[in-house]
Amino acid sequence: MIEIRNLVKTYGSGENMVRALNGVSMDVRAGEVLALMGPSGSGKTTLVSILGGILTATSGSVKIDGREITTLGASELPALRREQFGFVFQGFNLFPALTALENVAIMCDLKNVREPKARAAELLEMVGLGAKKKAHPSDLSGGQKQRVAIARALVGDPKIILADEPTAALDSVSGRTVLEILSGLARTRGRAVVIVTHDPRVLEYCDRIVHIEDGRVGSEELRRVEEQVA
Ligand SMILES: Nc1ncnc2c1ncn2[C@@H]1O[C@H](COP(=O)(O)OP(=O)(O)O)[C@@H](O)[C@H]1O
Ligand SMILES: [Mg+2]
Repeated sequence: MIEIRNLVKTYGSGENMVRALNGVSMDVRAGEVLALMGPSGSGKTTLVSILGGILTATSGSVKIDGREITTLGASELPALRREQFGFVFQGFNLFPALTALENVAIMCDLKNVREPKARAAELLEMVGLGAKKKAHPSDLSGGQKQRVAIARALVGDPKIILADEPTAALDSVSGRTVLEILSGLARTRGRAVVIVTHDPRVLEYCDRIVHIEDGRVGSEELRRVEEQVA
């Protein structure tokens, strides 16, 4: 579904140039949960940002269902982001003045989803927050806020969910709930789920781990092998 080849990204120029990605090649498959692990500064956020069309690559190729996205212009990228991707971040990025329902509904509006409130309510039910529709972010726990953020990321049924350190700010129980929801999207709905993480708990939920070191793929491991054979 996603093919990444020889991806290079540099920031700055001259003496200040940083090579954040130094020739990354990897694939992401539909229906899999992929963990991207690696030390801080190794290029993980840069990689998912390019994947999601938020950042442009310096060179290399990213194809989504065969379509090259690194050469898309500013007029085409927003549609790509809207149609293909759902984003979940460490910091939740909810609007504090809006209720949980409104935080999701506003994305339905942006993505031209019909009956935004009804769809937002459905998505909140799906992440187990049906009872918290009217709560504001300040009344929700970290885990609940992240579930609102996941509901928002699911608006428009994106094929690919990109989650950058989604459990970093969460306690262990809420972290697990969030990982169960994210991995469930891959298992039951065939989404590709990419989770950037330092969190060893993610290993129980992922199919594959790609280790990023100094802007390169260091190694790959398979998980859940028994299920893949079955
Ligand atoms: N906007 C930027 N400008 C300059 N350097 C950056 C920028 N974003 C990231 N970097 C650098 O690129 C490298 C990779 O960063 P990042 O992708 O955020 O890594 P990670 O998410 O693995 O911590 C780091 O050396 C970081 O300092
Ligand atoms: Mg990062």
